[in-house]
Amino acid sequence: MLAKFLAAFLTLVYRIRQEAFNVWCFLCLYSLGAVYMIVEFNRKWELFWRVVHLDVHKDLPSNLNGFVCVLTGGSRGIGLHVTKTLLEKGCHVIVASSVKTGEAIERVKKRILSKVDQNNGKLEVWHLDLSSMDSSKLAQIMFTYSLHELVKASKQSEYLTVNCLHPGVAQTELYEHVWWVNWFPTLPKHLFRSAEEGAETVLYTALSEKMESIGGKYLEDCEIKHSSAYSYNDSKRTLLWRKTIEMLSPWLPESTYVPLFTDTQHFTNE
Ligand SMILES: *[C@@H]1O[C@H](CO)[C@@H](O)[C@H](O)[C@H]1NC(C)=O
Repeated sequence: MLAKFLAAFLTLVYRIRQEAFNVWCFLCLYSLGAVYMIVEFNRKWELFWRVVHLDVHKDLPSNLNGFVCVLTGGSRGIGLHVTKTLLEKGCHVIVASSVKTGEAIERVKKRILSKVDQNNGKLEVWHLDLSSMDSSKLAQIMFTYSLHELVKASKQSEYLTVNCLHPGVAQTELYEHVWWVNWFPTLPKHLFRSAEEGAETVLYTALSEKMESIGGKYLEDCEIKHSSAYSYNDSKRTLLWRKTIEMLSPWLPESTYVPLFTDTQHFTNE
């Protein structure tokens, strides 16, 4: 009898703990959302701080002939606007898409080209399924810093740069799945930036002269910013990298499978 009661009691405590954790996560997520709401609001009205806007004519090279760009997610939302700008400037763009058949690939190609005012470049759509790569954003930032160190260590950072960025909160199809967007479908237009504006930091990071030879950085609104303190933690980054290499080892050449950054110099965010 007592044992039964105790078991029920413990189950209840466990459930409450779990629910409390869920509520906590919910609150954290929504406060992060609230912070970005302020960022987006400020971008529209510039009440609190000045925001750098990209001028695609002034801030980017006018002619991208001879450049090749491989883009994932380049067929919709923010990526579509990146593709459009690159093609108009004469770049050879390869969009990696999850579609498989030749027919579907042609359809994606047509849809992209219908958004391009004047195609001065070349567009290819390749099949590449990344849907099973469920990496979180924090991990992507940490990978960026680790990869940058690797590039730096191999003395190639002059030619090869690795950066990451937050495009801002843009109204893309992603938001169709958020509950309050379904209730107030016109609200995102007033709260968020357009997908075209979301493309600004992507283009700036890849193409601005000011970003030449600069790697291992995190950008928001066309400016280098600090990412969270957690993302700079050496030992956590090393752990993430090692685990990843371990998991990928069946597909990697033998030589890659070495624990990297065994003696990391302290990584500073200069
Ligand atoms: C980094 O993370 C480790 C392990 O979690 C922790 O012990 C250490 O204090 C952290 N370092 C910094 C600089 O925050």
